[in-house]
Amino acid sequence: MSDLTSSIQSIESGETLELRHRILRPNQTLEDCAYPLDDAPETLHIGCIMAGDLVGVASLFHEAQPGQNDPLAWRVRGMAVLDCARGLGIGGRLLATLIENVRERARGGHIWCNGRTGVQAFYERVGFRQQGDVFDLPPIGPHVVLTLKMGAE
Ligand SMILES: CC(C)(COP(=O)(O)OP(=O)(O)OC[C@H]1O[C@@H](n2cnc3c(N)ncnc32)[C@H](O)[C@@H]1OP(=O)(O)O)[C@@H](O)C(=O)NCCC(=O)NCCS
Repeated sequence: MSDLTSSIQSIESGETLELRHRILRPNQTLEDCAYPLDDAPETLHIGCIMAGDLVGVASLFHEAQPGQNDPLAWRVRGMAVLDCARGLGIGGRLLATLIENVRERARGGHIWCNGRTGVQAFYERVGFRQQGDVFDLPPIGPHVVLTLKMGAE
């Protein structure tokens, strides 16, 4: 790409589907790429626009971990950057934007995600830590729960 100028902005849930499908779930249908809380009022979807194209997406849900009831739990999901736009800092900016959004909403609590083991370090570099053991999420593969504790100050 010649124009590397990009901007992160809020997008509609439906706009996330194509990139989720192409990057995260190419072997599933477009409908499989919708998440249950996509249209919940507290959900935030963001995208990165570069040279007029949507090249990255990520979503934030107000959602507790299974079996827990932390009212200040936020889930990062559907983090995906097109292959041709990787390594430019876009994924990092998307993640930082979601973390900042949580900081603005509430004090304390935590952010979590089911991270693919292959990208675990992408989350750990900004403070996420592995919780528990690696588990399989068919048909995608091995994952770990990664959590980021939010300061209460
Ligand atoms: C993971 C992903 C979102 C990263 O996006 P990106 O735009 O390439 O990431 P960035 O360029 O912002 O990288 C930010 C930092 O994370 C690091 N990083 C990026 N991908 C990484 C990976 N797979 N493993 C370890 N570190 C990674 C970069 O080296 C960079 O670190 P630095 O600032 O110290 O150099 C992107 O590779 C992707 O969409 N992958 C396929 C889908 C996927 O696995 N999504 C996550 C599902 S849990």
